Amino acid sequence: MEGVKGKVVIVTGAASGIGREDALKLASEGARVVLTDLNEDHGPAVAREIGKDALFVRHDISSEDDWKRAIATTQDRFGRIDGLVNNAGILLMGSVEDTTLEQWRKVLRVNADGYFLGCKYGVAAMKANGGSIVNMSSVAADGLPFAAAYSASKGAVAALTHSVAVHCRSCGYRIRCNSIHPDGVITPMTLPLMGNPDPATINYAADPTSRFCDPGDVANLVLFLISDESRFINGAQMRISNAY
Ligand SMILES: NC(=O)c1ccc[n+]([C@@H]2O[C@H](COP(=O)([O-])OP(=O)(O)OC[C@H]3O[C@@H](n4cnc5c(N)ncnc54)[C@H](O)[C@@H]3O)[C@@H](O)[C@H]2O)c1
Repeated sequence: MEGVKGKVVIVTGAASGIGREDALKLASEGARVVLTDLNEDHGPAVAREIGKDALFVRHDISSEDDWKRAIATTQDRFGRIDGLVNNAGILLMGSVEDTTLEQWRKVLRVNADGYFLGCKYGVAAMKANGGSIVNMSSVAADGLPFAAAYSASKGAVAALTHSVAVHCRSCGYRIRCNSIHPDGVITPMTLPLMGNPDPATINYAADPTSRFCDPGDVANLVLFLISDESRFINGAQMRISNAY
């Protein structure tokens, strides 16, 4: 695949799970990657694993100042931005009855405000030369009864994605924006829900009824959506699920 060679891509939440795999996959295909995260222990280690074509930036996605700094640091280091993977997120379990207003706001601040800011500053940075934005939504965007705030935040991401895609197209920006909606992915976010099994012992790949996939399965789609091979895919909601 020629599509991401030399591209400069920001991946948020790249210290762990899906974001880590996205960064490694993009770099392995020739992209230069800016890994951002709150986690200053694991994030820099992933950037070091990639080497000179990677940079770690400490970044809280819910902070507007942090977004300005992350974009400016990327432009200073690599001179351009071609792609943005809005991936960082938090999960909070709880039905509408169990969730407090404080918890609701905490989840929406990261998972919705953070993606809004990413799209806002990502579009500003890429509108002159074009690019691709990938937003990590979830099947929870349909509304899971046991995760009210998380579901609402992922629904917001899906609607925001379509709004950004149509806006950019109508402005002639050549920026595509698509959302990915995984079902279950085995990461540090979901392992506690499964009783913290050793991931090496999970035989999910051999079980056709399993709802859980590997972070690499998501990273393959991220790679495609950032690449020029997906140049005619815009405003799409792409599920990663074998359930339906
Ligand atoms: N794992 C799943 O089953 C699953 C399913 C659907 C969607 N998703 C989504 O995929 C994305 C990645 O999830 P994951 O499973 O890899 O989780 P993860 O917990 O392994 O990784 C999330 C990363 O985001 C970072 N982060 C959290 N809040 C942040 C903030 N305010 N600013 C910057 N970084 C922050 C964390 O430090 C962590 O490194 C999330 O948006 C999640 O909602 C996950």
